[in-house]
Amino acid sequence: MKNNRLYIAMVGLPARGKSTIATKLKESLVNESVKTRIFNNGDLRRKMIRGNTSYARFFDSNNSEGVAIREKIALTNMERAQKFLNSVGDVAILDASNVSRDRRECIQSRLNDHPILFIECVNNDEEILSASILRKIDLAEFGHLTREEAIKGFRERISYYQSIEEPLERERNYIRLDSLHNSIIGEGLSDIIPYYDQIRDFLVTNTVKNLYLIRHGETYYNLEDRIGGDSDLTEKGWAQARALANYFKKKKIPLIFTSQKKRTHQTASPIKEIHEDCTIIPLTEFDEINSGICECMSYEKIKAQMPHVYSARKKDKYNYVYPEGEGYVTMQERINRGIKKALYLSNPSDNIMIIGHRAVNRMILSHFMFRREEDVPFIYIPQDKFYYISTTQNKKHFQLKRFK
Ligand code: F6P
Repeated sequence: MKNNRLYIAMVGLPARGKSTIATKLKESLVNESVKTRIFNNGDLRRKMIRGNTSYARFFDSNNSEGVAIREKIALTNMERAQKFLNSVGDVAILDASNVSRDRRECIQSRLNDHPILFIECVNNDEEILSASILRKIDLAEFGHLTREEAIKGFRERISYYQSIEEPLERERNYIRLDSLHNSIIGEGLSDIIPYYDQIRDFLVTNTVKNLYLIRHGETYYNLEDRIGGDSDLTEKGWAQARALANYFKKKKIPLIFTSQKKRTHQTASPIKEIHEDCTIIPLTEFDEINSGICECMSYEKIKAQMPHVYSARKKDKYNYVYPEGEGYVTMQERINRGIKKALYLSNPSDNIMIIGHRAVNRMILSHFMFRREEDVPFIYIPQDKFYYISTTQNKKHFQLKRFK
């Protein structure tokens, strides 16, 4: 028997990013010629069961009919996964919530021919969860409900899972992953796990398929070298926005993430005119660095009127925090959150566009591309070019491209 075969069982409450991670992990393994297949319980349920199984009570552990159907689906997928590994497959990923220890014990006792690695996705960030739920309710099975009903139902479904949830700790092999920060928060290994380095490294890597990172066009404040504020685009800025739209006219851009500031929204608007089905999503996470007491001032004026601020920032630009405002260092958390939201709201294969600001785009770039902290505040972010970013575990592609 080949001994490099592996079961992976995803674990976690609904809408925690399990399927996205499973899909990307599969891609990464397939790239390395590891034959991988995903066995998703939700997909199988939608295929096997004719009637409506999307209502919350279906997932109540006291609803014996629902439990029986879900058990049957889980067992069918386990059998299929086993067949796959015992024929051509190398890695079988069971994509389901698997939150109860009973379910996991069942998996361990039935799939005892190859090692099993449990991967739990943990993320209790309320905003990311809401973003993730919005994507879930796009599924056809919620089509007969209003948006509010679907959200309410989905949250109720989550609470049923919460009532039986037990975190990983006793299983033979497991990784607990903070799926918001791509960091491992718990790990236990009793067996030799094939492909372990590949899998573990994948879990802590930031990946994105096609990200177009754009800075807003020229504004009136830019002309005066003033910072912050909420200025409009100049004529030149509008021309840049139109050129941008023209450049992207043949690309499918389902979502554009902007900040809450007018200049980013205005830059996005000509694209929306060309692609009517594109949705613009303003995120506060992508608002420009808050320069506190220096908001709306020019660098010249700051130097003259607040020399202590000017020189302190010059000395350590990354760590300097504007009084009553932010610094690069304190922006990191919200920028990561914005990136996660954007990724959760997009499908893994979508083109993603972010229209941000100078400091924001520096932080987004450095999320995907290593830069020493002291170099981040100097990354070149022009207004007539954009960064194309595509990073997988093994390939990083960054390109600064002109659109005008
Ligand atoms: O000048 C444009 C701007 O986006 C300001 O709003 C912001 O404070 C600044 O750039 C960030 O760049 P730096 O960190 O180099 O001052």
